[in-house]
Amino acid sequence: MPPYLAGREREKEEFARLLDQESILDNLVLTGLRGVGKTVLLDTLKPMAHAKDWLWVGNDLSESSSMTERNLSTRLLADLAVATSNIVVSTRKRPSAGFVPTAGTAERVLDFNALQRIWNDTPGLASDKLKAVLDRTWDALEPNGVPGVVFAYDEAQNLADHGSRDEYPLSLLLDAFQSIQRKGTPYMLALVGLPTLFPKLVDARTFAERMFRVVMLDRLSEQASSDAMTKPIESFGSPTSLTPESVKRIYEASRGYPYFIQFICREAFDVWMLQPRAEIPISGILRKLDDDFFAGRWARVTDRQRDLLVIIAHLDSSSREFSVQDIVSASKRSAKPFTSSHVNRMLVSLGEAGLVYKNRRGRYSLAVPLLDAFILRQLEEQGQ
Ligand SMILES: Nc1ncnc2c1ncn2[C@@H]1O[C@H](COP(=O)(O)OP(=O)(O)OP(=O)(O)O)[C@@H](O)[C@H]1O
Ligand SMILES: [Mg+2]
Repeated sequence: MPPYLAGREREKEEFARLLDQESILDNLVLTGLRGVGKTVLLDTLKPMAHAKDWLWVGNDLSESSSMTERNLSTRLLADLAVATSNIVVSTRKRPSAGFVPTAGTAERVLDFNALQRIWNDTPGLASDKLKAVLDRTWDALEPNGVPGVVFAYDEAQNLADHGSRDEYPLSLLLDAFQSIQRKGTPYMLALVGLPTLFPKLVDARTFAERMFRVVMLDRLSEQASSDAMTKPIESFGSPTSLTPESVKRIYEASRGYPYFIQFICREAFDVWMLQPRAEIPISGILRKLDDDFFAGRWARVTDRQRDLLVIIAHLDSSSREFSVQDIVSASKRSAKPFTSSHVNRMLVSLGEAGLVYKNRRGRYSLAVPLLDAFILRQLEEQGQ
C-alpha cells in the first residue's frame, strides 16, 4: 500500500455508487495494465464497503482455484465462511438412525463445514449447489441488517472455462451470481485483473456485458503523479524534498505509471540519503528498471517475436493500440517482412506470454506498460 494513494477519485466514486444500488444490477470489473495500481485500489475499496456496513469477502484467484467447478466453489465457500462463521442458525434436529426421533431444534453456526454440507446436500449441478449456499447464507445475514456482501477477487484473469475437461468454473460463477442477483440477493462481484479479464467474461457468457461496470485504471495524471511523489515525503516530515523540476523529470520518465513512479522515487531517495543535493540519475535508474522489470520478460521471447516487438515499438500508436495490418505494413520496410497470418499467430503466442492483449474491438495493445520505450532503449544501446 503506498503511503498516499494518489488520484483515483473517480474510480472510488464509481464504487460508492455501486454500493448504493437497491438491487444489484451492476458488478465491478477493475482492470488495467501491470503495476497500474489495481490491487492497492481494491484494498482502498474495502474500508469504503465496511463504512456502509457491507461485508467484504474474497481472495486472490489462483489458476488452481479456477481449474474445476468444485475448486472454485470451495474457494467461494471458504471465503464466505469467514464472514458467516459467527452467525448462529437454528436447524431442525435430525433423528439418528436406530433411535426414537426427538423433536426440537439445534443451534448451528454457518462455518465452512456447514456451507459445505449445504453444497453437498443440494441435488443437481454445481450451479444449483452454489446458488443454494448463496441463498441460504443471505437468509441468515439479512435479519442482521447487513446491506450486502462484496465478493472481491484479484487476479481474476485466471478464471477460465475448460471445455476439454468439461469444467466450466467461470460460467458457473457468472450464472450463480446472475441468478441470485435477479432474485434480489445483494451479493456483488468485484473482479480485478489484467485487460484480458472482461473479454474473457463476455466470451463465457454474453450477459456479462450487461452485468459489469468496467473501470479501466489508467496511468496517473501529472497532478496525481506529483501528489504520489510529494505527499508521502511531506507527511513523514522528511528533511528531503523534491524540487518541481525533479517532480517533472520523474513524471516524464515514469509517464505516470504508479509502479515506475515508486521505483524511480525509491532509487532517487537512496541516492539522496548519501548525497542530499545530488541530481537524480534518471538514466542510471532507468537502466536498473530495465534489469529489474523488463529484462526477464525480454529474455523469454524468441528472436522472431523480438523482431515483431521491435516493429510494434516503432509504430506511432505503440503505446495505445495497433492492428495486424499496421504491423504488416510497417514490416514491409524491414529485412524480413511478416505476413498477416504470421502476425496473427505470433500475437496469440505473445498474448499467452502476457506481453500483448487483444481488446474487444479486435485491436492489440502492449500488456506491459512502457515496453515500447524499453525496446527502443535496448536498440539504442546496441547502436541499432
Ligand atoms: N494511486 C497510487 N498512488 C501511489 N502509488 C500507487 C498508486 N497506485 C499504485 N501505486 C503503487 O504502485 C505499485 C503497483 O500497484 P499495484 O500492485 O496495486 O498494481 P497492480 O495493478 O495490482 O499490478 P499487477 O497487475 O502486477 O497486479 C504499488 O507498489 C503501489 O504502492
Ligand atoms: Mg495486483
